[in-house]
Amino acid sequence: MNKILVVDDAELNRELLYDILKDDYIIETAQDGFQALTMLRKHASEISALLLDLRMPKLDGFAVIEEMRQNDWIRRIPVLIISGEHAIKIENQCFHLGVSDFIHKPFESSIVKNRVKNAIELFSCKNQLEQTVAEQAVTLKKQHQIIQMQAEQLRNAKPFRHLMMEYSSAILEVETKLKVLNAEFSQVYNRNPFEAIKSRLKSPESIYEKLERKGYPVTLDSIRENLADVAGLRVICSFPDDIYRLAELFIKQDDIVLVRRKDYIKTPKPNGYRSLHLILDVPIFLSNGKKYMKVEVQFRTIAMDFWASLEHKLKYKKDVGSTDEIVNQLKRCADSIEELDYQMQKIRDQIDHSRE
Ligand code: GTP
Ligand code: MG
Repeated sequence: MNKILVVDDAELNRELLYDILKDDYIIETAQDGFQALTMLRKHASEISALLLDLRMPKLDGFAVIEEMRQNDWIRRIPVLIISGEHAIKIENQCFHLGVSDFIHKPFESSIVKNRVKNAIELFSCKNQLEQTVAEQAVTLKKQHQIIQMQAEQLRNAKPFRHLMMEYSSAILEVETKLKVLNAEFSQVYNRNPFEAIKSRLKSPESIYEKLERKGYPVTLDSIRENLADVAGLRVICSFPDDIYRLAELFIKQDDIVLVRRKDYIKTPKPNGYRSLHLILDVPIFLSNGKKYMKVEVQFRTIAMDFWASLEHKLKYKKDVGSTDEIVNQLKRCADSIEELDYQMQKIRDQIDHSRE
């Protein structure tokens, strides 16, 4: 049976409440705030609800509430105020301080029982939920520490560092190829097919996390076989047609092998994401010969890159309020960006034709 503490200086009230609740709960009583706090300090963890009078000698109900707030007991133990006819202002003040409910005099047996029962059930659910969340947080923290440790081991392993060097070399090869195309275009056609290239090597933490998440073994062979995005490049173009022109020219180069092509411009993701992704096998030339490395190249417009970096932030902020609304706004922005990109392309064509 749950234990309840009834705090009231009037003996009659204590007795009436005792009679109503004695069959369902173990009842402890206190005659004033002072006694109540002494009991709470000793047995707070055993008490499932507090029925509290406000006006009492020695120490009143507000002082009890104040200490319960300071010790954070009020988050775990529901407080129901035993009230005569308190002004609305006082009731509001109590709610503001964290009180759960009121039990009005004269006491009506079934209402008292139901109010106490509801308050205890609600808090019990809340407390259990908080405990589960706290336990999960501990588990997550442990998992995170394991990932960090494994990543550290990877980072320090020489063969792993060698593999990363190979991926870095592949990034350099792709960058050079793209820069050569850009130089040629600006010479021959007086324009640049892309504005910027960004590149990144996947971190050991991310590599480890992705292999684990997808159920692959954590070995160097598995990285080579199962991860296509250890070496990643992002090519930022001004106009959509530059993306396709550049990608085609690139794939046509006879030492490049196209492994996979995902066209999220023709078929955007439901969230509005638009980019052209190519997974390529790119040769690198080392002292002991030629070796093919997988590289992921994402092509997107400047405006879409701006969009994607904002949208990416949303993925890491699970706690943002009204996420649905943000998702909708982002989708609308992505659609506007597409329209704008093609309008700008049209204007560029008009300018180009008027020049001819
Ligand atoms: P990953 O396991 O995340 O690599 O996805 P995937 O193997 O299914 O490949 P996909 O082509 O869908 O995504 C590859 C990469 O493109 C991602 O790692 C992101 O960098 C980027 N990307 C894909 N979809 C989105 C998106 O909806 N928003 C943003 N901001 N980036 C995306
Ligand atoms: Mg990826």
